[in-house]
Amino acid sequence: MKLPEELQFIANARMIQKTTDARLDGRVCVITGATSGVGYQAVKRLAQGGAHIVMVCRNAEKANRVKKEVEHEFHVEIDWVEADFSRFTDVKRAAEKILQKYQHVDVLINNAGVHYTHRTLNENGIEIVFAVNHLASFLFTRLLLHRLIESAPARIIQVNSQGHRFGGLDLQDLNWVKRRYRGLKSYGASKNAQLLTVWDFSDQLKGSGVTINAMHPGEVRTNIGMNNEWLYRMYQHYLLRWILKDPVISGEAIYYLAAAPEMAEVSGRFFNLTIDEKPASHALDRSLGKRVWRISEELTGLSQSPVMMESEQQDTNWLWKVPAQG
Ligand SMILES: NC(=O)c1ccc[n+]([C@@H]2O[C@H](COP(=O)([O-])OP(=O)(O)OC[C@H]3O[C@@H](n4cnc5c(N)ncnc54)[C@H](OP(=O)(O)O)[C@@H]3O)[C@@H](O)[C@H]2O)c1
Repeated sequence: MKLPEELQFIANARMIQKTTDARLDGRVCVITGATSGVGYQAVKRLAQGGAHIVMVCRNAEKANRVKKEVEHEFHVEIDWVEADFSRFTDVKRAAEKILQKYQHVDVLINNAGVHYTHRTLNENGIEIVFAVNHLASFLFTRLLLHRLIESAPARIIQVNSQGHRFGGLDLQDLNWVKRRYRGLKSYGASKNAQLLTVWDFSDQLKGSGVTINAMHPGEVRTNIGMNNEWLYRMYQHYLLRWILKDPVISGEAIYYLAAAPEMAEVSGRFFNLTIDEKPASHALDRSLGKRVWRISEELTGLSQSPVMMESEQQDTNWLWKVPAQG
């Protein structure tokens, strides 16, 4: 029986996933949220493929543990940079360190993500799920973009979610002041916003040799949500874990998107693991996407940059083309 288009993601989750034997020897792969779950599995798969991994993590103890374990298992060298992605100052500092240290960034994987059941604000007074899942990844990508372009061919992977289908994005009420906070809706809003910006990133990067795609990493057993109250933790630990899959599939899918030769020129798509899939229609609203873009620039302080504003007016591919002289 063929499912209606909006439910096709259920069937796609059961499809045989694509894999690749292509290697990433020496390619600099920056990955956020590498200390557990999806990111940890991606790090292991990238190490197996020979990548030069740069992890961006908020917890030094966990980062050092992963570094030691993966270096020992795969005989690679792993670097890491400290940053709490709920703080934009940390995101900027991490980007600066990476730009200083690495002449190449070949793959950027924005994976760090959170789910809160209660409304919480970051130090800028922004709802934390929106700040970490969308704004921080948007800012980090923008700050590393010129290095990715210089390193082309390069790839950006946004670890998104089927949660974008939950809706919840209201640009008049990003902080959930007018509405009752609902964790899944807030999560949906953040993932929807991230997805909406992927299409514009992709358009603006056309011809630059840099691709950007979003992916859902499967319904997998990780620590997401374990920061919440004990009842939620019990629910996740004792009930959800039985229906969730091993996040090794997420690592394999991310590796496929990062390394497969057939993915070299694919950009501006949403993948259910490795299956190309149509997102929810509200995530395809291009005019909403442009508003999300501008609001994201304002909230992260990017719109304060006069150079970007100037070049934006000069060229539709303003993110990477050198503005005309004179
Ligand atoms: N699990 C699923 O079924 C599923 C489904 C769809 C999408 N996803 C997406 O997959 C991505 C990874 O999540 P996961 O399921 O693997 O969850 P996880 O096990 O909780 O891993 C999340 C990672 O993000 C890091 N992180 C969280 N908040 C951060 C912050 N403020 N600053 C820096 N790093 C931060 C965590 O660091 P710590 O170790 O220090 O906490 C951890 O490394 C997320 O974007 C999530 O939305 C997951």
